[in-house]
Amino acid sequence: MCGIFAYLNCGVPKTKKEIVEKLLVGLKRLEYRGYDSAGFAMDDNEKWCEDDDDDDDEEEGGDKKRHDAKKVIVCREVGKIANLEALARKELFGEDDDDENEVKASKSKSSNGRKKSSSSIKPLDFCASIAHTRWATHGPPNKINTHPHTSDSRENEFVVVHNGIITNHAPLRAMLERRGMKFETDTDTEVIPKLCKFLSDKFEESGEKDVTFRQLAMEVTRQLQGAYALVFKSTKYPGELVAAKRGSPLLMGISDDSGEVSCVIDGNLSDGAEEDVLLKKASGNKKRKSMTGGAAAAPAADADTTTTTTRITTTTTTTTNNPKVEFYFASDASAMVEHTKRVLVLEDDDVCHCHDGTYKIYKVEKQKHPHPGYTSGHDSPEYGLYKPVVLSKEVERTIETLEMEVESIMKGEFDHFMQKEIFEQPEAISSTMRGRLVLDVLGAAERVMLGGMSQFAATIRRSRRIILCGCGTSYNSAIAIRQLFEELTELPVTLELASDVLDRRCPFFRDDTCIFISQSGETADTLKALEYAKAKGALCVGIVNTVGSAISRATDCGVHINAGAEIGVASTKAYTCQIVAMVLVALSLSEDSRSKHTRRDDIMQGLLKLPGCVKECLKMDAILLELAQELKEEHSLLIFGRGFNYATALEGALKVKEVALVHSEGILAGEMKHGPLALVDKHMPIIVVCTNDGSYEKQQSVVQQLKARDGRLILIVSDDDTEMEKTAPDAVILRVPKVEDCLQAVVNIVPLQLLSYHLTVLRGHNCDQPRNLAKSVTVE
Ligand code: AGP
Repeated sequence: MCGIFAYLNCGVPKTKKEIVEKLLVGLKRLEYRGYDSAGFAMDDNEKWCEDDDDDDDEEEGGDKKRHDAKKVIVCREVGKIANLEALARKELFGEDDDDENEVKASKSKSSNGRKKSSSSIKPLDFCASIAHTRWATHGPPNKINTHPHTSDSRENEFVVVHNGIITNHAPLRAMLERRGMKFETDTDTEVIPKLCKFLSDKFEESGEKDVTFRQLAMEVTRQLQGAYALVFKSTKYPGELVAAKRGSPLLMGISDDSGEVSCVIDGNLSDGAEEDVLLKKASGNKKRKSMTGGAAAAPAADADTTTTTTRITTTTTTTTNNPKVEFYFASDASAMVEHTKRVLVLEDDDVCHCHDGTYKIYKVEKQKHPHPGYTSGHDSPEYGLYKPVVLSKEVERTIETLEMEVESIMKGEFDHFMQKEIFEQPEAISSTMRGRLVLDVLGAAERVMLGGMSQFAATIRRSRRIILCGCGTSYNSAIAIRQLFEELTELPVTLELASDVLDRRCPFFRDDTCIFISQSGETADTLKALEYAKAKGALCVGIVNTVGSAISRATDCGVHINAGAEIGVASTKAYTCQIVAMVLVALSLSEDSRSKHTRRDDIMQGLLKLPGCVKECLKMDAILLELAQELKEEHSLLIFGRGFNYATALEGALKVKEVALVHSEGILAGEMKHGPLALVDKHMPIIVVCTNDGSYEKQQSVVQQLKARDGRLILIVSDDDTEMEKTAPDAVILRVPKVEDCLQAVVNIVPLQLLSYHLTVLRGHNCDQPRNLAKSVTVE
């Protein structure tokens, strides 16, 4: 939730217009993370505002450039990025509201309102800019609460964008208010720039004049509790950006001509001394216990199938001589990929400092107060002295190459991301299986190979039980797969909603295997449940879409679902791919079972046909549009399913309520007589999932009972079914391809996804950015 985008050009001249456009495009890519309000801050350098024919300026060194950046533009607006764009166009470039086209430099004027000619606008070699799109948590979504937040809104000496939650903001705010600082917003974030200003002033008063921006940011983050991804900018440190991360995702991107980048490493515990030791960056892959490779690197088959990112080692130089580098920070790769594919993922307690064409990453050391008598923060200093006290160590981080293509974050020929992602499912499912479902010479599926999990398969088989855990759609995929897990592993399988795990303090044990399912890999509830399970000693497995995400890094092993970027807030292709990935896991865990050989073989051959069956389902689009037209004025919709398709009912209902904003309930059909039947009359539309599997006869009886109560029925049946239309001749019948029972949920959800999509569009709602929601729920 909330999206951060930041940009620093070093020796690569950019005009104000170019930078604003870059920030706005970056924010648009992240808009799915939150769309309550948005804003940016950037240097308002004199070179942009005044005619300046003195070419000498261009030849002056970094110091001159630094001194130029005295003023900061802060631009904020409520609502979508388009609103911010309109405001920026008007206020920064003097364009009319109704000019929908590109920002035009020829019409631009200075911030004091004076019209400028394009020839007077000179690019700037160094400019630090930060931007943010907000999903409101503390304080309503109004302009004042919009990021960036500042140390004071007149001078904007320190400006900050933040993703996450500062849990101790109240005592920090009280402390700062006691020391005379005035707060302007309702946000938790505002304490951060205020703390920057407070500590910066105190350091100066104590004679600590050489505190670096990185040191200052570390002193500030030392005071913070909770979760954050932060990017700091300051007029005191022009041309510099500092980023810090704990608990919320943050990536850095690097773009330069040479493919190489400067990296300065001191490698020592530092108490603030900037003793730079220049080393060649050896960013070799460290062995990491995570689902990207387990304790050992994942075998090629699994690694090959990773379509989102791949890790490569890059050589870096130590050159600082006139570097031409652009640095980016973003909450996720989708905002980065059109600028650079070279990224590194910051880890918790990392602080990254970019300036003068170099970057350095430091890990904050957890320790007791190292300088008795000094303080850096809100505790009272014994002798009234303030000094940077945080110790840190410079660390290496692997530069990775994104394999994500720009097209994957564009809508292409589709009207909406949700529509695109529904239609991408056949290909996405194939990607999930690629290299994992191994074929024999005749093209039949022979076995399953999951490189990221193979080392842990025996441990999982010896587990006391398997716990499937996730939220929302990811939880529904767990429901869809539970029965197959029980059948193939013969272990008890329980389900846990991640948010409930901590509330109940679930009894997890060291001989449990906990499988955490998440599209984003960032969901705070799931991450907390994972930390809890780890603390209890359970083996933690991840089923995650986003490579490099917190959940994929924190789990012991796992499978990336490889569905490709999912931008629409409503999860569609991730759901079907999660089920397929977990079918593969269940198959791989049961490969030694002779008694299950035939069943396993049927499922594997069924998997091969699955993308084609989903494609068939997508041909029903026009029928679903017609049905949506019929249902668009309805206020409620019930969906009944059971067995493998209880999940279909829940997931279908979640889609309808989430995007179409229609009340909808997914109900276990076996529960119908225990209450929900009371809702049934001739007005209530009811969808019953009754494809041909072990529950078929029971579902037939459900349909009969609903018909007896005059229910308005829509039935999802197998394409060769002849009975259901006899049972309910008035029902709308939706025919879907028949597949292996445990795979049927993958097919059956497709008509419900299409229905909810069309309902949403017909009702005039935004399916990609539904009301009050955001894609990644990074708050508990
Ligand atoms: C799905 O349509 C929802 N947006 C939501 O329920 C989502 O599945 C849930 O928040 C979990 O997200 P995750 O898969 O990224 O962990």
